[in-house]
Amino acid sequence: MRQRGNIAILCAPTALGLWFFYDFALRYLTSEPHQFGIYQPRHQWLYVHILAGMVALLIGPAQLWLGMNKRTAILHRILGVLYVVAVGAGGTAAFYLAVHNDFGWVFGIGFFSMTTVWIVTTALATIAILMRRVEQHREWMIRSYVVTFGFVTFRVTESVLDLANVGTMVEQLTAASWLAWTVPLFITESIMQGRKIFKKPVPVPMLREARTYTLQPEAGDLTHQNADSRGAPQTFTARSGQFHS
Ligand code: HEM
Repeated sequence: MRQRGNIAILCAPTALGLWFFYDFALRYLTSEPHQFGIYQPRHQWLYVHILAGMVALLIGPAQLWLGMNKRTAILHRILGVLYVVAVGAGGTAAFYLAVHNDFGWVFGIGFFSMTTVWIVTTALATIAILMRRVEQHREWMIRSYVVTFGFVTFRVTESVLDLANVGTMVEQLTAASWLAWTVPLFITESIMQGRKIFKKPVPVPMLREARTYTLQPEAGDLTHQNADSRGAPQTFTARSGQFHS
């Protein structure tokens, strides 16, 4: 069951990403000027944005899958560097596109904020792993990918509003530029934090026979030496909140 969930995490966003690429992005990867439509005056920025965005969109699920399955050796690291570079390039172009748009300032601020959140979540995920904070890295990486996926959600939201015949086209685009990333981020955060609230507490027998408590000032962490049920030594670190054998 868990294995199936893992595979869904890899396949569903990849399939949706490929659909988005085929339906919305591919037409702009051309040298034909008329194909760029409203993006003609800023087509170089769009070109960089789409190429980099696509790299991030397709690498993301593979990275989450590798991370969840603890396959974090060389491939995960190489793809991780590629993902960060792609977000850097795609985000820089997105700042430009957000400032130079045809649909007004509220739409522009929606995308400007989304770009800021895209870069900040990715930067925090990177800093966390450089500092070996695995749990924080995992959480920030999930947030980063939810935002990467935001442009796909943007197109879906805008199509739903259009089908429902709500407001004008500019109103639909403007609402979608905010809803597309704030709602998925809120849902993700509720699930991540909610799981912690409902997580089973550490069983009391595991805490029996505390041997030593040491404060490591340089690491800023409280370490608790213990033994597992078979008597093998274990260390509990406050930072990770887990026992390590
Ligand atoms: C995650 C953060 C992202 C932000 C903030 C962002 C922002 C933007 C902005 C501001 C525009 C111009 C909108 C306009 O003026 O009409 C744009 C266009 C576009 N972006 Fe992104 N983008 C992001 C991610 C992506 C990703 C991952 C892809 C995947 C390839 C992508 C593909 C496109 C495409 C194809 C267009 C032009 C066509 C269209 O409007 O559908 N974007 N983006």
